[in-house]
Amino acid sequence: MLGESAPSFNANSTNGTFEFPKDFGNSWKILLSHPKDFTPVCTSEILQLAQMQSEFEELGVKLAIISTDKLDSHFEWKQLMEDILVESGHSNKIEFPLIEDDNARISNKYGMLHAWESPTRDVRGVFIINPQNKIKSINFYPLNIGRNMEEIKRVVVALQTSERDQVLIPVNWEEGDDVLMKYVPYTEQELAANPDLENQYYKVGVNMWYKKKGMK
Ligand code: BEZ
Repeated sequence: MLGESAPSFNANSTNGTFEFPKDFGNSWKILLSHPKDFTPVCTSEILQLAQMQSEFEELGVKLAIISTDKLDSHFEWKQLMEDILVESGHSNKIEFPLIEDDNARISNKYGMLHAWESPTRDVRGVFIINPQNKIKSINFYPLNIGRNMEEIKRVVVALQTSERDQVLIPVNWEEGDDVLMKYVPYTEQELAANPDLENQYYKVGVNMWYKKKGMK
């Protein structure tokens, strides 16, 4: 559930063993589940994430990938994907771990198995976890539909902006766009003392107070 602590687990992965989320420290984390190594949609997703790994790193986000495959399979698949990356002129390293969950212990903990999609294969889950290890966003996608990794990055930036600036994020927001205020931003008295406030905020309808882009 949103707001709850991310369930912890010990993992074997292509980056060795670790305890999640503790060993990922004081960073944002995204745990992504996928159905099956070597399948086309999953491969396209991991290749995309590999090309975006420095963008996620710049946002202070660590990625972790999980499926109910065995570690041997993860290693073989990772090598195949790194070969594709080299062939297409991109970075040749997948830095994030692929976690083994062949007994579905972790997948069950996170509700990644949805029986009508598959009784043994994870759906495409996305868990965005903040530095305090609280789950801030959960999404599930079906087996046959690849995720939009730019959208996942957008949600991270939106969560970070909302937490940092104590603002709300309106529909179709992109980084740098105007944001919504939680409260009426100034009183008549404050406006009289600082008329520039009128240039920093604007009202739409009855209760939608926007803060203009670039205003701190
Ligand atoms: C895929 O990643 O291509 C895939 C995985 C499971 C079911 C269908 C497609």
